[in-house]
Amino acid sequence: MQTTLSQALHTPRLIVRMIEEDDLPELFQVFSDAAVTRFLPYITWEDTLAAHSWYQRVKEMAAQAAAMQCVIVDKASNKVIGSCLLFRFDADSERAELGYALAQSHWGGGYMGEAIRALLNHAFGEMGINRIEAEVDPRNPASAQLLKKLGFVQEGLLRQRWKFKGEIKDTWMFGLLRDEWQAANLPG
Ligand SMILES: CC(C)(COP(=O)(O)OP(=O)(O)OC[C@H]1O[C@@H](n2cnc3c(N)ncnc32)[C@H](O)[C@@H]1OP(=O)(O)O)[C@@H](O)C(=O)NCCC(=O)NCCS
Repeated sequence: MQTTLSQALHTPRLIVRMIEEDDLPELFQVFSDAAVTRFLPYITWEDTLAAHSWYQRVKEMAAQAAAMQCVIVDKASNKVIGSCLLFRFDADSERAELGYALAQSHWGGGYMGEAIRALLNHAFGEMGINRIEAEVDPRNPASAQLLKKLGFVQEGLLRQRWKFKGEIKDTWMFGLLRDEWQAANLPG
């Protein structure tokens, strides 16, 4: 099972590629918005120090093959408009978890679905992943709806799974299997 993106992924409007340090100023526009980070286990970035310490952690996790952090680039503007990642890799079980965040300026335009479709094709294909999980806060209907449209199954509610940002949070567990993805996305 691979844990890196061997090549940039192209969709009609987007490029999904591995993060670089130079992406941090544009990613700052995404993660400094409290509406974007509301349900993410990260602080809202208030300064470049927050961005650089996050990037250090990304590099450490990449070095341990524990996470594959990508950015989403809008081809029209050539700007980074979001982030998507695979993490919590389990090589024996061929499993990973999916995370994503999009700049609020681009919500509602189907961008994240377009990016994640490309990532899932690659993950279930070349990367050799069999199961992808995603956790969603029950108060985040846009994220749940996005996953359902991609074919994820809402498998169960994990009660009081997380404590962060001063809250105890339930989480919906979503899962998608390679067989399901390939059956629903046969070429032609
Ligand atoms: C979740 C997120 C990536 C969705 O991306 P997006 O490209 O804006 O997705 P869309 O706006 O096309 O919405 C996806 C679906 O949710 C629906 N939706 C959006 N907001 C909704 C709301 N408040 N209530 C119910 N449904 C909603 C949309 O109608 C759409 O469904 P449709 O295609 O059937 O019409 C984006 O909102 C985001 O980055 N949020 C902040 C970060 C985050 O929460 N990440 C996920 C952590 S699990």
